[in-house]
Amino acid sequence: MNTKITIAIDGFSSTGKSTLAKQLAKHLGYIYVDTGAMYRAVALYAMEQGYISAETFDKESLIRDIPQVKLHFEFNADLGFAEMFLNGRNVEKEIRTIEVSGFVSKVAEVSQVRAKLVEQQQEMGKNKGIVMDGRDIGTVVFPDAELKIFMTASAETRAQRRYDELIGKGDAVSFEDVLQNVVERDYIDTHRDDSPLVIADDAIEIDNSHLTREEQFNIVLDLVNNI
Ligand code: DC
Repeated sequence: MNTKITIAIDGFSSTGKSTLAKQLAKHLGYIYVDTGAMYRAVALYAMEQGYISAETFDKESLIRDIPQVKLHFEFNADLGFAEMFLNGRNVEKEIRTIEVSGFVSKVAEVSQVRAKLVEQQQEMGKNKGIVMDGRDIGTVVFPDAELKIFMTASAETRAQRRYDELIGKGDAVSFEDVLQNVVERDYIDTHRDDSPLVIADDAIEIDNSHLTREEQFNIVLDLVNNI
């Protein structure tokens, strides 16, 4: 398989989509785009402007500001992936906190936010040779992608992975809070009106609750090679 293709990886939060996508992109020499990082950066913007808190969400102000929210990725050779920038500032670390995780689904429900990000994602993938992960890549962003993967794993398995990751970074979180966040995000992601998380008809579902990273990578690489 020599011609470049588009690989869409969708699925629930903390299913290891980005790990797989990064591995694939590196192996194939493709661009990797983490669309969750883009929604997270918009959520961070809304937090910093005081538009969103546990009690309130000033959607109108966020919608009004959308043209001023500039997002771009910059490849970091040391890390081996592209970092997220919000209005010229590297926010790669800030967008991964549990606070941002708590607000991001609400921001991702706003159609005007989705329209802007989807347009930018389609532009990034127009020349193919891209692995993009998210929730709506195979259904909305690239419905014609040559390979669509949908990843699942139990909520407990995913919460444990996320918890280990946050603890590893020194965040003082409880497993119960992380599990609650995972369950809440699943609910909002699958029930929103605009682009809910659904499996595309032609996507291949992979439950990786009991797969190692390597096993998973080899399954998907076989799929790529058989296109
Ligand atoms: O993949 P992630 O957990 O970093 O994504 C963060 C949130 O962004 C997730 O709760 C849903 C939303 N999202 C989305 O609605 N559409 C995408 N393509 C990617 C993420």
